[in-house]
Amino acid sequence: MPRFYLTTAIDYVNSRPHLGTAYEKITADVIARYKRLGGVDTHFVMGNDEHSQNVFRRARELGQEPLAYCDRMEQEFRDVWRALDLSFDDFIRTTQPRHKAAVETIVTRIAAAGDLYQADYEGWYCVGCEAFKQEKDLVEGLCPIHRTKPDWIKERNHFFKLSAYRDRLLAHFAEHPEFLQPDVRRNEILRLLDAGLEDISISRAGQSWGIPLPTDPSSVVYVWFDALINYASAVGLGTDPALFDTWWPADLHVVGKDITRFHAVIWPAMLMSAGLPVPRQVFGHGWVHLRGEKMSKSLGTAIDPLEAAQRFGADALRLFLTKEIPYGADGDFTFERFEERYNADLANNLGNLVNRVTAMGARYRQGHLTPTGSPSRLQDLAATTVREYGAAMDTYALHQGVASVFRLLDATNEYLAERAPWTLAKDPANAAALDEVLFTAAESLRLATVLLGPVMPASTQAILARLGDHTPLVDRRLAVDGAWRAAGARTVAAGEALWPRVVSADPTTPDVTAAPAPVQVRALSGVSSVPEDQSSATPVSPVAAPAAPAASAATPAPTSAEPAPSEDAVITIDDFMKVELKVGKVLAAEAVPKSKKLLKLTVQDGAASERTILAGIAESYTPEAIVGRTIAFVANLAPRPMMGLVSHGMVLAADTDGKAQLIAFETPPAPGTRIR
Ligand code: MSP
Repeated sequence: MPRFYLTTAIDYVNSRPHLGTAYEKITADVIARYKRLGGVDTHFVMGNDEHSQNVFRRARELGQEPLAYCDRMEQEFRDVWRALDLSFDDFIRTTQPRHKAAVETIVTRIAAAGDLYQADYEGWYCVGCEAFKQEKDLVEGLCPIHRTKPDWIKERNHFFKLSAYRDRLLAHFAEHPEFLQPDVRRNEILRLLDAGLEDISISRAGQSWGIPLPTDPSSVVYVWFDALINYASAVGLGTDPALFDTWWPADLHVVGKDITRFHAVIWPAMLMSAGLPVPRQVFGHGWVHLRGEKMSKSLGTAIDPLEAAQRFGADALRLFLTKEIPYGADGDFTFERFEERYNADLANNLGNLVNRVTAMGARYRQGHLTPTGSPSRLQDLAATTVREYGAAMDTYALHQGVASVFRLLDATNEYLAERAPWTLAKDPANAAALDEVLFTAAESLRLATVLLGPVMPASTQAILARLGDHTPLVDRRLAVDGAWRAAGARTVAAGEALWPRVVSADPTTPDVTAAPAPVQVRALSGVSSVPEDQSSATPVSPVAAPAAPAASAATPAPTSAEPAPSEDAVITIDDFMKVELKVGKVLAAEAVPKSKKLLKLTVQDGAASERTILAGIAESYTPEAIVGRTIAFVANLAPRPMMGLVSHGMVLAADTDGKAQLIAFETPPAPGTRIR
């Protein structure tokens, strides 16, 4: 069986994943799942880059040991990746012993090759990039990526003779035009190689956080030199020779365009020096932008991927990012555009087709479809689609692969409109024609759904089950399931709409103006659900987020508002104890754009942890008035999206005349204290 070893960049853990870093992982996951669908034995590795100074500083800011902080962040990253349905086979961390062993192996081999020497380094260093910078790299004295002034450092360092590898790298690029893709990145790097390479410092003096340099334990290995080696340590370099032989060299490194240089120049030169094979291919994808700026935590332009996934389900987000951003280019993310595409591609197109096919199958044939064997133009188009899809996916034109499937879905919808089975069903004389139309449409939809599997794993499984195909995801194969099935009766089952159409009113906006008396304590974060702007109501139900298909339980879409229990409803103490009430301290507060009622609060909820809570108290409290206050909140609510943000809890307040009054304490207890 052919094998494929695929990696993503490993992430700095000084902050949580954002939609830009998630984009990389999602698209790599699409590639991994596509390979598996093609019957390729695939090893997909992701991980965390922990030895950066920013990570060390962040841990110290929080008063935590760096390793303990990294342990906690691993969980946070894994939670996000699980919610996005990423199918990685291994998760490497650069603080793991297996990684240290690989770093020692490579550095020792490079030293043995005579490619290390000591010299003084004096120059700029951007901690955000974790990179040495030359004057020409700066714009008005600032790092152009982080817009911060780099540090001037002067150290005695160990250097790698990168310059000695220029000719070998140029020869490698010439012999392997596919080595770096897309072409725009390849051309960038070729220009850089033409201009010549300088040796690079691979150590940092006087730091404790990192892997000691085997040849000089008073220094640690420079974080990039350390991080690149993760790709080899994850498959056993220095610890498991058989595993290493199985998977190395990597088939594909998926990385962002900002770090292509590290992967296409420094990394192959390191491997050449160490006498190891270089990876077969590097793909430098573009950036996800927010309002034209690179999405980034440090620039304040980050969107929480969970928030985006909770809006319409993880699969809808995966589809949006894969289909709408040409792979390799930059693309803008807005919630407006996400909603627009959700309605067009999922509610109106795929979801509608699933509804039509299964509902008509149930109504006219009690769910049992019989093949008629008549050839159809959809069958020809399906064959063309499979070819186009394969060609696009094989060259990582993921957006084109998905677009070709949507052409087949469009054609299937058009076919139904033309053949009008609802009219055929009126006359029993048309029974054979009706059978043909229902079967053909169901088969075309089944095949298109199989092709969308790598992009929307959970919901395509749910659709295929409705179409009577219960093959487990891992057993699906393009060669078998992607072929038109002209024979074989099948059973279809109608169900709930998978992706109800959405209008952009925000029904999760809290309502603190509801009937005031009697005064009652309420959780002010989206329990009730009257849109702020009633004028936006349309005949379409204002669904905040549709129920995700059954199989996508990993990212449950928020349910619509639930009615408050009646006044005299009685609950048991066990019921009450399910609600985790806690003390929190408001560290920061700000108004939520376009909302009259919401404040976004940063709440300290434990000794060294914080969370975001959206509270409908803006008509009663200014942000300044609430900062520093100790509050009570519900701590164990599922995260809820509101106004483009996500609330991780609810603040408790009394509702008096529609105005909120926060619960106060005589002597404020420590944040995190349980309330009973
Ligand atoms: N730790 C290094 C990578 C080391 S790999 C040996 C790093 N980490 S990062 O957390 O800053 O970025 C991780 C990946 O996310 C990188 O490939 C980076 O290019 C990518 N992205 C960061 N912001 C992004 C967008 N706004 N859009 C798309 N990708 C983005 O770099």
